Amino acid sequence: MHQSFQIAIDGPVAAGKGTISRLLAQQLGFLYVDTGAMYRATALLALREGINLDDEDRVVALLEKSKLEMRNPLPPKETDGRLTTVILDGEDVSWAIRTQKCGDGSSKVAVLPKLRRVLVKKQQEIAASQNVVMEGRDITFRVLPDANLKIFLTASIEARAERRHTQYLSKGVNISIEEVIQEIKERDERDMQRDTDPLHIVPDAWVIDTSNLEIEEVVKLIAEKVDSLHQ
Ligand code: DC
Repeated sequence: MHQSFQIAIDGPVAAGKGTISRLLAQQLGFLYVDTGAMYRATALLALREGINLDDEDRVVALLEKSKLEMRNPLPPKETDGRLTTVILDGEDVSWAIRTQKCGDGSSKVAVLPKLRRVLVKKQQEIAASQNVVMEGRDITFRVLPDANLKIFLTASIEARAERRHTQYLSKGVNISIEEVIQEIKERDERDMQRDTDPLHIVPDAWVIDTSNLEIEEVVKLIAEKVDSLHQ
């Protein structure tokens, strides 16, 4: 059994995983690990190098020769609204990986089995020695199957689209709600239908529907559960 306390959170895109995990980690003094950022950083690398996103061997080779670091944002420079800081070969790419193009690219590289193996191993190493709130699409059943607490966060497609739409608008991206719904449906399809480790709910996961809950309420619910497990 692992020494660290592990909270594993899975769920579809825009269910609130990032914000909830970050706040929860902050409250508990745990490390927040956004595994989606690792798939995004890989997509960014491949896009910059002009490598086809389905060229598995080249994508994996590129990642393996690069240095990818992740940490909680350091004040004051990094407290600019980001949830996590991602450094790629010494460059702060925390915002560069958040574009629509990288989001789309990340769900394409995420279907590559060899790449998944490399990233899963990195994630397991991170969680072995420190308390974590780790979120993604395969954390509860592939990365941390022995986690102390497993959660599946979900929300209606309307609630998810509305949240994502607000995020886009705040970043100055002019996009219609219909386009956002379409984008989310396509991402769901890729995440849930891929051959390797498709997103699904494990039997021992606690399923939380966040459609009608405030972020703070969800964080409080989970923190109370963690307290009860510690006793
Ligand atoms: O959570 P996100 O949107 O940043 O994730 C980017 C992509 O990476 C998304 O399409 C799903 C994929 N992903 C994955 O396959 N496994 C994870 N553990 C995390 C993300």
